[in-house]
Amino acid sequence: MKVSILLLGLGQLLLLVSKKSSTAIRVHCRDVERIHEDHIHYCCKHPDGHNDVTEQCAKQTKFKLPSRDEEAIEDLTVDHVMTGTCFAKCVFDHYNFMDNDKLNMTAVRNHYQTTYKEDPEYVKEMISAFNLCHSKSEDATAEFLSTSIVRAFSSSAYSCKPMPSVVLACVIHRFFHNCPRNRWSNTTECVETLAFSKKCKDVLTTM
Ligand SMILES: *[C@@H]1O[C@H](CO)[C@@H](O)[C@H](O)[C@H]1NC(C)=O
Ligand SMILES: *[C@@H]1O[C@H](CO)[C@@H](O)[C@H](O)[C@H]1NC(C)=O
Repeated sequence: MKVSILLLGLGQLLLLVSKKSSTAIRVHCRDVERIHEDHIHYCCKHPDGHNDVTEQCAKQTKFKLPSRDEEAIEDLTVDHVMTGTCFAKCVFDHYNFMDNDKLNMTAVRNHYQTTYKEDPEYVKEMISAFNLCHSKSEDATAEFLSTSIVRAFSSSAYSCKPMPSVVLACVIHRFFHNCPRNRWSNTTECVETLAFSKKCKDVLTTM
């Protein structure tokens, strides 16, 4: 009897200790300024560097890319992409991703499989993100568009059809949300961002 009480006590103590260590990062959801959403692209490894297509489309549509070395679509945040409907349309048109108002998944698959052969995990993640953002396009898009920040943006006047930027924004969201653990960068900023996004849903649009 005495032994089991002692064990129970030890169990509670262990629980207490493990609880304490899991709250090592303190997260305050109002503390948004501390979290730089535009740095999220440093956190999940993806092919980076110069990209002719995004650069040309950015010039053509006066869309601002983060920098010359940050021209991958994953270098953009969700709300940034939502302001660039013509940019997204230009990129999708270039790759022939759109077939009227629908995403052509054959074209998407071909593009990723041929361009990023050397990184099959990335190809798989991207195709799965596109697939989800298009196949469930009604559900996923509706759910996605209902997040508060996106809603604020979608009320502003569009100069191009919004579908490509909605799909692109959804893909970016999915990509970071499903980032495999081994591709997630273990820096303080990334660990904090992840903890923040888990606790404060709907504050960061990209996560
Ligand atoms: C979809 O893309 C593929 C590959 O680029 C192309 O062969 C096919 O004609 C396209 N389908 C439609 C319906 O446009
Ligand atoms: C991340 O970094 C921390 C502290 O530097 C270390 O304790 C932890 O094991 C690392 N985690 C991974 C998954 O590498």
